[in-house]
Amino acid sequence: MARITFITADKQRITLEEQAGSVMELAVDHDIPGIEARCSGVCSCGTCHVQVSEEWIHQLPEREADEEGVLEMFEDSAPRSRLSCQIQISEELDGLVVEVCPLDE
Ligand code: FES
Repeated sequence: MARITFITADKQRITLEEQAGSVMELAVDHDIPGIEARCSGVCSCGTCHVQVSEEWIHQLPEREADEEGVLEMFEDSAPRSRLSCQIQISEELDGLVVEVCPLDE
């Protein structure tokens, strides 16, 4: 089981527990605001963009080329940017903190 904390655009901290699936799926299942996941996790929309907290960014696997390509489309993309659909939950991620980056529309 892993505890994942989401920090929303209005600075709410929401901590959820899960043992499998992606961080995006966890967010969508619990209606975390700002995670739309329009492509349902096939790494093409970028509406699951998060910024991983500083202490966790180097503990995640490197971005794959697909993820890199999607993130390049966003002006607010940063070194800590990840697509939450590409982060698989495991016990090793217990305590992960991510900031939600909603689209400006
Ligand atoms: S849900 Fe579309 S890129 Fe993650």
